[in-house]
Amino acid sequence: MTYEAIEVRTEAGKVGIVTLNRPQALNALNDQLMDELGAALKAFDADPAIGCMIVTGSAKAFAAGADISAMAKFTFKDSYGSDFITRNWETIRTIRKPVIAAVSGFALGGGCELAMMCDFIIAADNAKFGQPEIKIGIIPGAGGTQRLPRAVGKSKAMDMALTARMMDATEAERSGLVSRVVALDKLMEESLAVALTIADMPRLAVLAAKESVNRAFESGLSDGVMFERRLFHSMFATHDQKEGMDAFLGKRKPAFKNE
Ligand code: HXC
Repeated sequence: MTYEAIEVRTEAGKVGIVTLNRPQALNALNDQLMDELGAALKAFDADPAIGCMIVTGSAKAFAAGADISAMAKFTFKDSYGSDFITRNWETIRTIRKPVIAAVSGFALGGGCELAMMCDFIIAADNAKFGQPEIKIGIIPGAGGTQRLPRAVGKSKAMDMALTARMMDATEAERSGLVSRVVALDKLMEESLAVALTIADMPRLAVLAAKESVNRAFESGLSDGVMFERRLFHSMFATHDQKEGMDAFLGKRKPAFKNE
């Protein structure tokens, strides 16, 4: 598939990188971009060589939101009738391998929501997160009112959704929205190092860890702990558990087979 709104490449044969690429609109997210992003992530997910993915933007903008020019004339019928965004924004939730958001610059509205749909966020020191939809007469529509309070708590989420104020990288890290903050010129280097670390982990355990952490958002504690317990038990059916523990005890490097 040829892509126009994104650029796609691999690093070291095992990390898939998608760069959002609509610089003229600060990577505003339209149907074409979301279709392409979904297709690229699905292709990486299906490629056995790839162990982790990164979604990133430009230094100025990860993404400044859903494309306002595409929505400006929407009627209720256009949005509700076509179930606007469900079709191509949900693809990322079906990806089983880890997806890191490497965010620099603006991550606003749908851009912040897209970053939060990824498994975790690494931010450059110039990153700015926000849900400014209220300023244009709408509210977040891709999970922002649900994922932001889970990430930063009710007070900050309300503050951001109601006043449209942006959160800088320092506050985002302090609040738990991002896992790490790095210098802008080191963003890709550091994100790639993290992705390579994950890509070299035993694959079945990576899939199970991601699935189990995500379960924390979908279930109560008892159900979540039981879900984790069953996946934990199933790890003992894998080659890589035997290899990992044997290598640890033998003080040698493990040779994982992803099986
Ligand atoms: C369409 C956008 C855009 C957007 C920026 N642009 N954001 N186009 N949709 N979301 C365009 C501008 O129109 C402009 O085009 C060019 O990108 C550069 O933007 P400027 O505004 O000139 O840049 P700057 O002055 O640096 O300001 C940056 C900014 C501002 C603070 C990020 O662009 C801004 O406030 N953007 C909108 C942010 C927003 O409201 N996002 C939420 C959208 S609603 P021209 O042609 O003039 O150069 C949303 C709902 C999600 O996301 C719901 C689920 C889908």
